[in-house]
Amino acid sequence: MSLISPDGGMLVDLVVPDTQRSERMAETINLPRLEITDYDLQWIHILSEGWASPLRGFMRESAFLQSSHFNAIRQEDGSWVNQSIPITLDVSSGDRERLIDSPRIALCFNGTPVAILIDPEFYAHQKEERVARTVGLTHVGHPTVERIMAMGNYLVGGELEVLAPITYDDGLDHYRCSPAELRAEFERRGADAVYAFQLRNPVHNGHALLMNDTRRQLKAEGFRNPILLLHPLGGWTKEDDVPLDVRMKQHDAVLEDGILDPETTIVAIFPSPMIYGGPTEVQWHAKARINAGADHYIVGRDPAGMNHPETDAPIYDPFHGMKVLQSAPGLERLKIIEFRFAAYDTVAEQMSFFDPSRADDFLTISGSKMREYARNGESPPKGFMGGKAWQVVADYYDSLTDG
Ligand code: ADX
Repeated sequence: MSLISPDGGMLVDLVVPDTQRSERMAETINLPRLEITDYDLQWIHILSEGWASPLRGFMRESAFLQSSHFNAIRQEDGSWVNQSIPITLDVSSGDRERLIDSPRIALCFNGTPVAILIDPEFYAHQKEERVARTVGLTHVGHPTVERIMAMGNYLVGGELEVLAPITYDDGLDHYRCSPAELRAEFERRGADAVYAFQLRNPVHNGHALLMNDTRRQLKAEGFRNPILLLHPLGGWTKEDDVPLDVRMKQHDAVLEDGILDPETTIVAIFPSPMIYGGPTEVQWHAKARINAGADHYIVGRDPAGMNHPETDAPIYDPFHGMKVLQSAPGLERLKIIEFRFAAYDTVAEQMSFFDPSRADDFLTISGSKMREYARNGESPPKGFMGGKAWQVVADYYDSLTDG
C-alpha cells in the first residue's frame, strides 16, 4: 500500500544538504540580517520540513492573498492546494527600508543565522483585515489578534534555505518527527490507513472514544492495519492552555493506562503554532497531516476554537469546523471522520456521545473543572480519564497552586 502523496506531489525539504552547510553559513557573514522571533522560527520549522508543501518559503503577496481570500493556493497546473492560514514574516517600516534592495537576507534567531531568505518581496501588512479574514474577529482579547496587531506594517515573502534542522533542546525533540520521518514509520509498520488526531489539550476518554471508534470504523471498512497518529500541536499556545511538556507526559500515560494501543499508535509533535481560528484553522491542521502521510482526519466539536474574550461563549459554531472540512478546497483527498459531542455520562459512568433525550445525565468537564478537581484534591468521576494520565494533569494544576 502506498501512502497518500504530499500536496504538490513532492514533500518540500528546505534544509540545506550537509555538503553545502558550511558554504551557506559562510555566506551569511556578508549578508544583511533580520532578527526573527521564536514564533517566526516555529513557522520556519513548519516550512523547512514540508508540512505546508508545496510552499517553499514565507508567502509572497499573491500566495498571501489567495490564502486569506480562498483558503487555498492555485498551482501551475490549475489545481488547488489548501492553505487556510497565511504563513508570513512581518517587518517594520525601518527594516523594509534597510533591506529592500537586498537579494538575500540572513534570518537570525538570538543573533545566530538560521535561514536565508531569497529574492524578498515586501508588501503591505493589512493587519486588521488579515485577522478579520483568518480569525473572524478583530478583538485584541483574542491572542492571535493581539499578536498580529502588534506586528510590523510590512510582510516579506521569499523562498528559504534553512541552514540546519530546527531543534529546541527542551527534552522533547525526539517527538518532533518530520513528515518524511512519519511517512517512513507508517511504511515500516505497513499501515494501510493512517488516521490523524490533532489536539492541544490533555487526552480524556472522550478524545479516546473518537480515536478508538475511528479504528473500529476503518476495520469495518476492511482496512487491516490502520495506524493512529496522535499528533499534539507543539508550537505557541495561549497562556492558560496546558504546556507541551505536561501534555506529552500525559499522552504517554494514556498509552500506559491502556486507553490507546501503543502497537497501533504513533505519538509525535506537530510543530505549528496555534491560531485559535476555528473552521479556518482546522483546514490547516488537516492539510498539514496529508503531507505527513495521513489519509483520514478525525474532527469533533469546536476544533481549534476558543471562547470569545468578552462574552465567554464559543467564537465559532462548534459544528462549523467539521462542515467546512467536508467541502474545503484542496482537501478532497482526505477522508474526514466526524464525531458528535462526547460528554461524561453519569449513568454509564463513562464518556459517551451526548444524547439530548437525556441531557441531564451528562456532565461537561472543562479545563477549569479539571483545575478545580485538582485544587480540591479530588479525582474526576471514574471513566473520565485514565489514572496515570489524570495524575499528570493533577500534578500540573497542583504546581500552579503552589506558585
Ligand atoms: S484543538 O484546538 O486541537 O482542536 P482539542 O485538543 O480540544 O482542541 O480537540 C482536539 C480534537 O478533539 C478536535 O477535533 C475537537 O473537535 C475534538 N474534541 C474535543 N473535545 C471534544 C468533545 N468533548 N466531543 C467531541 N469532540 C471533541
